Amino acid sequence: MTTLQAFLTKSVPRLEVPASSPSLPRVFGVDKGMPRPPASVRVASPGVSACLVSDPKKAAAPAPASPSGRPFSEESKQVMQTEADVFVRTYARTPVVLRSGKGCKVYDVEGREYLDMAGGIAVNSLGHSDPDWVRAVVEQAGTLAHVSNIYYSIPQVKLGRQLVDSCFADRVFFTNSGTEANEAAIKFSRKFQRSLHSSGKEPATEFIAFTNCFHGRTMGALALTSKEQYRTPFEPLMPGATFLEYGSTEAAVKVIQSGKIAAVFVEPIQGEGGIYSATKEFLVALRTACDEAGALLVFDEVQCGLGRTGFLWAHEAYGVYPDIMTLAKPLAGGLPIGVVLTTEKVAASMSFGDHGSTFAGGPLVCHAALAVLDKIQKRGFLESVSKKGLYLKELLTKKLGGNKHVKEVRGVGLIVGIELDVPASPLVSECLNFGLLVLTAGKGNIVRLVPPLIISEEELEKAVEILSKCFPVLDAGNSVTPNLPPDRTHVIPKTLPTLVSSDD
Ligand SMILES: Cc1ncc(COP(=O)(O)O)c(C=O)c1O
Repeated sequence: MTTLQAFLTKSVPRLEVPASSPSLPRVFGVDKGMPRPPASVRVASPGVSACLVSDPKKAAAPAPASPSGRPFSEESKQVMQTEADVFVRTYARTPVVLRSGKGCKVYDVEGREYLDMAGGIAVNSLGHSDPDWVRAVVEQAGTLAHVSNIYYSIPQVKLGRQLVDSCFADRVFFTNSGTEANEAAIKFSRKFQRSLHSSGKEPATEFIAFTNCFHGRTMGALALTSKEQYRTPFEPLMPGATFLEYGSTEAAVKVIQSGKIAAVFVEPIQGEGGIYSATKEFLVALRTACDEAGALLVFDEVQCGLGRTGFLWAHEAYGVYPDIMTLAKPLAGGLPIGVVLTTEKVAASMSFGDHGSTFAGGPLVCHAALAVLDKIQKRGFLESVSKKGLYLKELLTKKLGGNKHVKEVRGVGLIVGIELDVPASPLVSECLNFGLLVLTAGKGNIVRLVPPLIISEEELEKAVEILSKCFPVLDAGNSVTPNLPPDRTHVIPKTLPTLVSSDD
């Protein structure tokens, strides 16, 4: 029995329930002696995968046959059930328990292999278990993991220097995630505007964001995130956010000219929103209007930055530079980090104590990030991303371009979207069945491909081959049964949870 199994089964008395629910693995009741509502009430949320129902009556039903006829292992069942029993229901998870990864492959607890075109939502740029990254983490973990920002640490200062040297910025601020980086950028913008108006004139405090944008889940970043269903339940949010059409220059210029705008937040390439690229004309117009009105221009490169487009920074492709850039996902190779990079002009408005974080930019995460940054900045790395990105789009266009459901294949480098005329979730599920991890984006009708940047051309070919094999599932009633050897067959219950747009 593995450590995890031992942990999951050790101290928790389980109901002996013999079989699986019709939709997912067998459920185990957990009773800690506390009065709890009936399980059927506890799991009523429609927003959460119906497969995780913790209902002993359902649990007694016969086990379902998965498409391949192979059930989940006891360990998988226990993990999924424990998650269903004790986690706040914010994630509609895909029913696969991943245990390990190497390069662009990940493996579930049953030992099945998946080609990873999701990259932990554009995080695992160097793939899984990159030896240099592992060495950096182990080395630093055994040396010094955390000191807080009360003290200096060498990896933090080294990383800060290297980031500043790599871009437009003069100064750096570390956070722990993308949303925190944007939260900091909001504060920096407000403080900068306040510093301009010490004479008593009202400073500009409002923000512009765009349709299909995603800037995070904390209250400030959430106020600048376009999807209404993310924002509405948590209102009132930070006031003063105006959403404008992404790409609509005229509307943006008009609002910026009002003089009320502290900053404009824009993703040069939108990830979660559906892989939409800004035009050069749009970004130039924003830059000019911001300069004229005294507003700041913030590029959110949390998803599209750090090599994903084949440029180190996505905005380099446009030759347009921001006042603030936020980063996060790929920088520390899977460890949590966020960064704000900004100009001296903006940074000068921030004083000691204006912002801070206990964990941000700790020596462990920064040492890991240095290993990632070193690799991405190696000669030839970015060129290889561009080349592979072009090859991926070429393959997709060739294999899928004629499919009646494909409206567009788009993207830059290794951030690619396939827009469909139908929801993508059946296709995503079918791909999982065949050993391929892909994401959705936009309104759920876009397949998002953000693989590790180290992926090989052969692996891209394999991914496109699986995708095209799975496309018939989009035609009603057409589910393809994997024709793989038993040890490679991917076991997915028929009734998957609705795979909504992969929430970043
Ligand atoms: C462009 C963009 N900004 C911000 C965020 C929020 O990052 P995090 O999930 O690390 O808070 C995301 C997450 O997907 C993102 O794609």
